[in-house]
Amino acid sequence: MRVEPDATVDVAMTVNGRAVTVAVSPRTTLSDVLRDRLGLTGTHVGCEHGVCGMCTVLLDGEAVRACLLFAVQCEGAALTTVEGLGSAADQHPLQQAFAHHHGLQCGFCTPGMLMSAYDLLAGGTYAPESLPEDMSGVLCRCTGYRGILAAVADVAREHPDGVPPPRAAVPPALVGRSGGVSVAAPPTSDVRKAPSSITVPSGPPTVTVDVRRALSAPVGEVWAVLSDPARLVACLPGAEMTEDLGDDRYRGRAVVALGPVSLRFEGLAQVADRDATTHRMRVLAQGADRGGSSTQAVIRLAADAAADGGTTLRADADVHLSGRVAQFGRALAGDVSRRLFERFAEAVDEAARTGGAPTTRTSPLRLALGALLARVRRLLQRPR
Ligand code: FES
Ligand code: FES
Repeated sequence: MRVEPDATVDVAMTVNGRAVTVAVSPRTTLSDVLRDRLGLTGTHVGCEHGVCGMCTVLLDGEAVRACLLFAVQCEGAALTTVEGLGSAADQHPLQQAFAHHHGLQCGFCTPGMLMSAYDLLAGGTYAPESLPEDMSGVLCRCTGYRGILAAVADVAREHPDGVPPPRAAVPPALVGRSGGVSVAAPPTSDVRKAPSSITVPSGPPTVTVDVRRALSAPVGEVWAVLSDPARLVACLPGAEMTEDLGDDRYRGRAVVALGPVSLRFEGLAQVADRDATTHRMRVLAQGADRGGSSTQAVIRLAADAAADGGTTLRADADVHLSGRVAQFGRALAGDVSRRLFERFAEAVDEAARTGGAPTTRTSPLRLALGALLARVRRLLQRPR
């Protein structure tokens, strides 16, 4: 094909599961089209001549350097960028593992590392001993390799039969931002819908909570609250249930405020085990906010009859945090989790005694400010 110097060519391809047609000049690189025409700025550009690997994307399932391909070479191809791997609300296991192992410092190499790692694990050639060499196609200028390799090894261990496919989630607001682009309507099974299953990361949690509280209500009444999802959610500060998905799975939202930062989590909870004889239950929960914070938790609740006719309510939880919320540190996150439980226990006691839902709901903001103040107070009281 010959093209006049100022002419453009229409290139049709599929990007993260969505059909796009882009009018480009023949010398336009794929990385420029992804970033500047489609707004998919997760594909980073470092060296622009194939050395650093920052621009790695998948083309028909294989890792390629987007800076070394012309967009016109991609006619009819299926491309997956890091935005297609997973979103903040629905992270791919590799993204979760990178967050968990802190496989990043500045994060500039992260998209290339993720796509390269996906290519390695999906290719079925993973071997622990050659992992450093296999991942050496992407350079980390911050030298954050240990966390990166630990994250990839973790996902390889967790998924011995193959890494899950990309989630193919695209933030629609950025697509087509500089004109000359047509984008097909999203498929009816909208890939951006909230996740419907819960994945709890392997490895040690960010925070563990183990608290107990004496309630005045008898254990049978307390269990009646715990085993009724609507009453239980009504006792959780700042939480509300939005959908009953069946099979003891529930969609909901919760607001957690840490001083000036307010996090609105949307997520899922699932009652994994419930034993009415011993009054024990185990709940899995997962949530994410639009700012990229995410949390997963395994929560065990136990209600035991106390000698005074009341109940001892115990909660222990393994909480995994990533994103903005993780920056607050373990101590503060632990404070907030404990205070949440204290408010929860108070509300359960009230609901159990009255036979309904708690009449007063805890303000998440007051709760968080209380946590901050308690923490500051403790720091001030520390001996010098
Ligand atoms: S920007 Fe493509 S390899 Fe460096
Ligand atoms: S984390 Fe900074 S370049 Fe890798």
